[in-house]
Amino acid sequence: MSTGGLNAGVGADGAGALVSHRPLGILAALPQELGDLIEAMRAESGVRTITHGQRDYHLGTVHGAPCVVTLARVGKVAAAATVSALIHAFDVEAVVFTGVAGGVGTEVRVGDIVVANALMQHDLDASPLFPRFEVPLLGVSRFAADGALADQLAAACERFIAEEGGASAARFGTHEPRVHRGLIISGDQFVASATGVEALRDALPDALAVEMEGAAIAQVCYEYGVPCAVVRTISDTADDHAPQSFASFLTEIAGTYSNAILRRFLEARGAV
Ligand code: ADE
Repeated sequence: MSTGGLNAGVGADGAGALVSHRPLGILAALPQELGDLIEAMRAESGVRTITHGQRDYHLGTVHGAPCVVTLARVGKVAAAATVSALIHAFDVEAVVFTGVAGGVGTEVRVGDIVVANALMQHDLDASPLFPRFEVPLLGVSRFAADGALADQLAAACERFIAEEGGASAARFGTHEPRVHRGLIISGDQFVASATGVEALRDALPDALAVEMEGAAIAQVCYEYGVPCAVVRTISDTADDHAPQSFASFLTEIAGTYSNAILRRFLEARGAV
């Protein structure tokens, strides 16, 4: 789907045929979760920054891939508004969300990485009018991530772990990271209690991680037919220790993980 917009990316190849250079949209909630992506873009291609709807959209090439990079800020409305602008004003071809999340699955530890196969809103409940978790009038509760994008992200995570996982674990005092694939759940709450995370496990036993934006991104992308994928590093386990664990992971580790994963993902994408 192409909607044109501020960055309608169509040019001509050497033979004069029209070719698409539609960029990839990359977003995170908080600046620490983007790592050095904008600096890397500045060094590689220069950055054109467009302010739209009180957000800065950074356009350029990073690790060989044309991208629009921005911050969604926190929560589902902020994420939905931002991804809608990426689609309509910047004509992105696909969307990748990167950041941290709370671990919900019992096997998911701080420092692990979760790549979403599907996303849903754990706080959406219009029952008894509609089934709990279902988006009213859309008839969907779980939004699938794009399979190819999710595979590429997971492959980038596995390469990161093979090349640097041990060193990262030693440097940050975490377990050697593992990659999990499955359900990520989103809601407008920072989950920070044993009872809160238990309630999520009871309601959604296959949930691996909880955060505050992914399912909103996935819903908007589903409605507009734009492929999307979400990768999250586990900063905390959504229990009573979550605020401290989240804060130290965000300042000390999140950017390193994001840089390592996105560099490998974008280099592989730029190479095709
Ligand atoms: N993002 C990171 N940790 C989280 C948590 N515990 N709850 C919601 N979003 C999060």
